[in-house]
Amino acid sequence: MTGKQEVFQFLSEHKGEYLSGEELAGKLYISRNAVWKAIEALRKEGHEIEALTRRGYRLVASAGEREPGLRVNKEEILAAVKHKEFLPIVTVLEQTESTNRVVKEMAMQGAAEGTLVAAVSQSSGRGRLGRSFFSPEGGIYMSFLLRPKLPAEKAVFLTTAAAVSVARAIERVTGIRAGIKWVNDIFVSGKKVCGILTEAGIDFETGLPEYVVIGIGINVEPKELPKELAPIVGFLNDAAKKPVNKSVLVAAIWDEFAGIYPKLSSAEYMEEYRERSVLLNREVTVLDPSGYYTAVVKDIDRDGHLIVEKDGKTESLASGEVSVKL
Ligand code: BTN
Repeated sequence: MTGKQEVFQFLSEHKGEYLSGEELAGKLYISRNAVWKAIEALRKEGHEIEALTRRGYRLVASAGEREPGLRVNKEEILAAVKHKEFLPIVTVLEQTESTNRVVKEMAMQGAAEGTLVAAVSQSSGRGRLGRSFFSPEGGIYMSFLLRPKLPAEKAVFLTTAAAVSVARAIERVTGIRAGIKWVNDIFVSGKKVCGILTEAGIDFETGLPEYVVIGIGINVEPKELPKELAPIVGFLNDAAKKPVNKSVLVAAIWDEFAGIYPKLSSAEYMEEYRERSVLLNREVTVLDPSGYYTAVVKDIDRDGHLIVEKDGKTESLASGEVSVKL
């Protein structure tokens, strides 16, 4: 962590308390001048830090608390992450084509597991099945890099693990129930608020994934939607009836995922994935390479396959897309 991150971390752990420059410098093993510089930089980022002679510095409100509409903030993400043994390596970008693309490029240049890029907006956000993902300012667009030591067939569990992590995090931060629409859309109050796109590079020699990029896009602040999205897409702030702190949500997603990741191959969380499904016992339209057909969803098995019944026959879908009226 940089001095600035450490100062922010320390101030937020002691939020509301005054800490002298000397105390901060001593605890963090940096000079008093470095403390002062860190405070100035943090204030420029929008954090409200009070300074009183003879008492010291006090964090009054973080940037995200003062202005929940604000962009994600690196220091705030890092301070809010609870899994301190597995901190993300965070970069926040103002605007980019696609955070998945940025992280993939970083992965190919040798970036470490845990590299996380978040952007305020994306000019060519990518969705599943070659679609685009509407990414205006006001949402969360984040991608992180994993280097799992797992065969490719187990690595597919990363997507379902990410879906469970996002659903849990949304629920923890907003208090509202989040469901999962197979494969990995997150639904709140009957509308899609989040999509997840997992991309991987496979080492053909070993057959193991060289890198996996998990990209998560969340609609937070209400925006005017393109006509075709309006009936399906929702916004977290509308559902929660309050502004959601984006940095805190990014940290919560990271924490939930960090809790599942070491136990990924046990697929324990698959039961929760199933329970959160918004599709069970519903009639859906399956989009299949051969066309569309109607079926009823009977189950989701431990491999994440969707079990549907069509004309009295059961089928197991490993991937693809279904649509449902909720
Ligand atoms: C989908 O719903 O089809 C998946 C959407 C995934 C969008 C996220 S936003 C962050 C990351 N960067 C991208 O270009 N896509 C993913």
